[in-house]
Amino acid sequence: MSERALVHTALPHIHVFADQHETATAVAASIRELVTRVPWARISYATGNTMIPVYEAVKKLVDDNSVSLTETTAFHLDEYYPCSPEEVYSFVKFLRSKVFEPFKLKSDHIFELRGDGTNPEESASAYEAAVIKEGVDLAILGIGPGCHIGFNERGTPFTARTHLAQLSQETIRRDHEERRLPTPGQALTQGIGTILDAREVILVAYGREKGQYLKEMLDGIVSEDCPASALRTVPDKVHLFIDEAAARIIEG
Ligand code: GLP
Repeated sequence: MSERALVHTALPHIHVFADQHETATAVAASIRELVTRVPWARISYATGNTMIPVYEAVKKLVDDNSVSLTETTAFHLDEYYPCSPEEVYSFVKFLRSKVFEPFKLKSDHIFELRGDGTNPEESASAYEAAVIKEGVDLAILGIGPGCHIGFNERGTPFTARTHLAQLSQETIRRDHEERRLPTPGQALTQGIGTILDAREVILVAYGREKGQYLKEMLDGIVSEDCPASALRTVPDKVHLFIDEAAARIIEG
């Protein structure tokens, strides 16, 4: 596996790999390195297509007894609201099947951000309190429409904590195109401030479209208009793992 560094003044750690598979394998290796060093590591997991190969690569390491995540604690980033874990598009459902079960996590080490409560503000504050109490060693992120991280859309203050967010038309349209079924227009999400508190952040992205979001995040001004640009306020702890297709857009 070959890795190259992309040099950019906005962020010092941009790791580039040949393709999606190699990028995902490298992220999995990085998770193994953390858990080998800190067996009780607290990890926050993103959902989405980007994460599928990453979690498959981690599962392979777990199945090969190359790492054990049994003592780790899991948080997750976001969930539609209202949304029961039985919905096909539920992020709780996604993480149960792709992370919590295959990684053999203990049920009392899992903090689900659930979208089926009757009081979303209360659910958000309770979740935020749990994140603050435990602390997060590693936050794994993707990047989505409008440079969102989690479901923090354009205009979200960098200080925001876990909250009920209104999804942008861009996000709603993308979700609809992808899933061919209507998804809710609101979501619970860790806030940008919550994410920035993690000791380390890994953002994963592949392909040209994500490359455009990354270019805006890296070349534009640091502003609430570009939620992912908040990561530039904590440059030393942020690592981008991207493929050549995304890198070429940044460099273009
Ligand atoms: C979604 C989620 C994010 C995710 C991002 C990228 O809407 N809110 O948590 O990281 O957008 O998703 P994907 O990897 O499917 O493109």
